[in-house]
Amino acid sequence: MKKGLFISLEGGEGSGKTSQIVAISEYLKKHNIDHIITREPGGISISEQIREVILNKQNTTMDGRTEALLYAAARRQHLVEKVIPALNEGKVVISDRFVDASLAYQGYARGLGIDEVMEINEFAIDGYMPDLTLFLDIDPQAGLDRIAKNSQREVNRLDLEALDFHNKVREGYNILLKNYPERIKLIDASKNFDEVFEEIKKVLDKYIRVN
Ligand code: TMP
Repeated sequence: MKKGLFISLEGGEGSGKTSQIVAISEYLKKHNIDHIITREPGGISISEQIREVILNKQNTTMDGRTEALLYAAARRQHLVEKVIPALNEGKVVISDRFVDASLAYQGYARGLGIDEVMEINEFAIDGYMPDLTLFLDIDPQAGLDRIAKNSQREVNRLDLEALDFHNKVREGYNILLKNYPERIKLIDASKNFDEVFEEIKKVLDKYIRVN
């Protein structure tokens, strides 16, 4: 039985969610809140292996549906091996992306259909959805400029898509924001790091009892 709290962070490339997750983890640690941080695709060995296949820059011929199925497969393994056990132990799980990424990227931006991609993901997630999703919204060009300046950040196959694709990803997330207003909260990620974290904290504090 699920006792923990499942939180996902979403956003386009360069939205800063990976760095914000580190800050969230520090914040939870300070307040002695038992938690794990993890990421999709990946988080555990099998899913990290699938990540390598999906994001390999040489795999230029990958079909959109193949891509969607691989993300769903990586999601399934990560969920059963890492997320569900942690939730069952009452932990807060902070995941860098979950199913909304497939809906925005594959469903909307790749044009496979949000409902169609949700359908294949329902088989993978079997009813597990985040309790809270933070959508870090940034203008796609500004996000890509941030990545270009950050030499440590890996540049993957999806980063190399044209700006038009990233604009569609943003549109896709905005549709999801309307479809799931209770669960998905909008965070303005164009601000500086500390301001974004303050905004995140305000939302988090409503879900997590901090002393
Ligand atoms: P990351 O940059 O957040 O590590 O994510 C890797 C890439 O995978 C990023 O371009 C977003 C993309 N992605 C999808 O297209 N669909 C998905 O379901 C997930 C989890 C990620």
